[in-house]
Amino acid sequence: MTQDELKTLVGQAALAYVVPGEIVGVGTGSTVNKFIDALASMKDRIAGAVSSSEVSTARLQALGIPVFDANAVGELAVYIDGADEIDGRGCMIKGGGAALTREKIVAAQSRRFVCIADESKRVDVLGRFPLPVEVIPMASARITRQFAACGGTARLRLKDGQPLVTDNGQHILDVTGLALNDPLGFESEVNQWPGVVTVGVFAHQRASVCLLGTSSGVQTLTY
Ligand code: 5RP
Repeated sequence: MTQDELKTLVGQAALAYVVPGEIVGVGTGSTVNKFIDALASMKDRIAGAVSSSEVSTARLQALGIPVFDANAVGELAVYIDGADEIDGRGCMIKGGGAALTREKIVAAQSRRFVCIADESKRVDVLGRFPLPVEVIPMASARITRQFAACGGTARLRLKDGQPLVTDNGQHILDVTGLALNDPLGFESEVNQWPGVVTVGVFAHQRASVCLLGTSSGVQTLTY
């Protein structure tokens, strides 16, 4: 099976976790796009969605799924999103699609995080994928030096030759050279650096379930 087919498989499998009558939290990315497309088949059985990005909002609305402001609703039963990496405890690196801040907000608002990913995302130790960190632009040079002091190399993410601007009007640093043996401690520490909006380690908001697409089908991993 191709990676795209595996994404379709887990996107469809995630429908089983959507609670009828409720509002579902929706992430961002190519795997989530498969989920959104599948969700259209049950749009009359859900109240709507809270979305983690402008891109996902546009896709949901184009399919006729109402999108609610996170502030207008209470706790969500489930949040469904992809990952760039996921370890054996359900901790993840996210933010490859630059939506990490809103993703973490919606995940924190949800009782359950169901991660949908193809098997290439499963790792023993997080850190091979460059770690996305959303930062206030005026702090990016100093945060780059702070990562260098930890052995990491931070690069400003560009789009069309210019710094990428997130949905929140901020910039993204992608950090290589880190081995995240203590994701929870690392997330807590970097979150406190002045100018860091969100670090793309999801340990406090780790997955409760991962639907992993493999060549032999969907594996359900629970944490
Ligand atoms: C976006 C994310 C995505 O979930 C992550 O990048 C995985 O994306 P894809 O499903 O396209 O591989 O964190 O900010």
